[in-house]
Amino acid sequence: MTSGAMRILILGGTGEASALGRALAGRADRAVMLSLAGRTAAPKAEPVPTRIGGFGGVTGLAAYLRAERIDRLIDATHPFAATISGNAARAADLAGVPLLAIRRPAWTAVPGDLWTEVDGMDAAVAALGPDPRRVFLTIGRQEAGAFAAAPQHAYLARTVEPLGDALPVPHLMTIEARGPFDAAAEAALMREAGIEILVSKNSGGAATYGKIAAARSLAIPVIMVRRPEKPGVPSVPDAAGALRWLDAGDHAAPVTLRDV
Ligand SMILES: NC(=O)c1ccc[n+]([C@@H]2O[C@H](COP(=O)([O-])OP(=O)(O)OC[C@H]3O[C@@H](n4cnc5c(N)ncnc54)[C@H](OP(=O)(O)O)[C@@H]3O)[C@@H](O)[C@H]2O)c1
Repeated sequence: MTSGAMRILILGGTGEASALGRALAGRADRAVMLSLAGRTAAPKAEPVPTRIGGFGGVTGLAAYLRAERIDRLIDATHPFAATISGNAARAADLAGVPLLAIRRPAWTAVPGDLWTEVDGMDAAVAALGPDPRRVFLTIGRQEAGAFAAAPQHAYLARTVEPLGDALPVPHLMTIEARGPFDAAAEAALMREAGIEILVSKNSGGAATYGKIAAARSLAIPVIMVRRPEKPGVPSVPDAAGALRWLDAGDHAAPVTLRDV
């Protein structure tokens, strides 16, 4: 990191974190470190320095903030990454570092959507019902194992990393792909695979909304997993908001913006 510059730690793994990194890259008045959990074997290249792996809980993150003399912490993690956001809130408090979260708005159902909203993966499994169905599973690799409890269904599971043996069921097809995905291609995929129901996290954002629009156009029902609770810290909806917050921090005592 450059000395004299504002030292910024971005907790990433999302498009927003990458967008913020791109916006800050090359600025002499900003010294950025992007942090990734390490879930993806080959993360895409970033134009800012990157560190990979956990910090060791709240105390580990607080120690990192102090040791690296971080001036601002940006929690730009995924809406379903609740542990790291809780850790960020507590560590920022312990280390006395101003924290801003980028909280991407959730999707909301519009006319034509056939959503069943549930809390957590076990509820999503139960919502599929007892009769065998052709399921498009788009909830990631880490929690796919929950669906082994419903082996009567035929699954098409799409993940960024290979699924491996994470979902031991007799009828399984896998696709490895990283978004964005557009609605027309999603509709073609669902039609070709004979999909009868989609399971999705309510991730929000444009990059993976195509499957939601496609399901609507094909009158395919969606099991929509609601987001976990995240701590109530100052937040903005996107990278542009975070950029404004950081720039405001040059001229004043640390400011916090709520939902700007
Ligand atoms: N969950 C999803 O659906 C999803 C989807 C897309 C991307 N992601 C991204 O994947 C990462 C992991 O998600 P998760 O749901 O497994 O998180 P999580 O359950 O909230 O975090 C579990 C642990 O992973 C470590 N960790 C998480 N994010 C980190 C980061 N950006 N940098 C360094 N360490 C991190 C922390 O370990 P220590 O306690 O040791 O620090 C944390 O306690 C996140 O960065 C998230 O943005 C998640």
